[in-house]
Amino acid sequence: MKNTSQNQELFQYYNERAPEYEDFYRGKFTTKIPDSAIYKNDASNIQKLLPSLVSGKCIDIACGTGFWLPIYEKKCSRIILIDQSEDVLAECAKKIEKLGIEKKTEVIRGDIFITAFPQHEYDSAVIGFLISHLRENELDSLFNNLKTSLKHKGKFLIIDSVWSKEIIAMGREKEGVTKRSLKDGHEFNIYKRYFDKPDLRTLADKYSFKLDIIYWGKVFFMTAGTLL
Ligand SMILES: C[S@@+](CC[C@H](N)C(=O)[O-])C[C@H]1O[C@@H](n2cnc3c(N)ncnc32)[C@H](O)[C@@H]1O
Repeated sequence: MKNTSQNQELFQYYNERAPEYEDFYRGKFTTKIPDSAIYKNDASNIQKLLPSLVSGKCIDIACGTGFWLPIYEKKCSRIILIDQSEDVLAECAKKIEKLGIEKKTEVIRGDIFITAFPQHEYDSAVIGFLISHLRENELDSLFNNLKTSLKHKGKFLIIDSVWSKEIIAMGREKEGVTKRSLKDGHEFNIYKRYFDKPDLRTLADKYSFKLDIIYWGKVFFMTAGTLL
């Protein structure tokens, strides 16, 4: 893949993290976490709510290993999954094969800021743990693309990281570049931000969305968006 992105380190991080990526959903980390069960709990609560919110032709933007795919796939007639990383997509392909849904899925390896999105094509979109890695100009680009690629009355779901007292207790910064390490000790500098409810209102106002908070946990949230 031709790669002109500024996000080389983020891209490499997720590519190398592919085999261990889903550990955090199960409360497993390379560093010690005071209450790892809260991750499992939030993931499981979101899994229960997610299927009723996805339908029709769906795009999973920065799909990663396709963690949410087995949860929502039955509700969709067609699913487009896009990510920049070869190795996360290899994990995702295993899920597609196991689910036997090759015919209704299309996997695209590409940078979402370079790949052209078709106009008014999708009934729904899933955006998991992407916006917390994006700076302002990238958010502009993502949401402008989303606006033109969703059908009228199309819905999008954002699942991402909550700025909570539990996260503060772990010594995290609300926003900034942090060190992330993999099991083999390889370290990366990764931009990450956490969201509070006013942040989501700011996003909704800026991009003219209606955003409904569906789930607000200790570490994860899920919000459903529609275009105004
Ligand atoms: C935290 S993971 C989220 C994976 C999945 N959506 C989930 O909810 O579990 C972030 C993903 O975004 C992908 N990503 C980040 N920036 C991207 C870009 N510009 N284009 C394509 N994929 C990108 C990474 O490769 C990684 O798989």
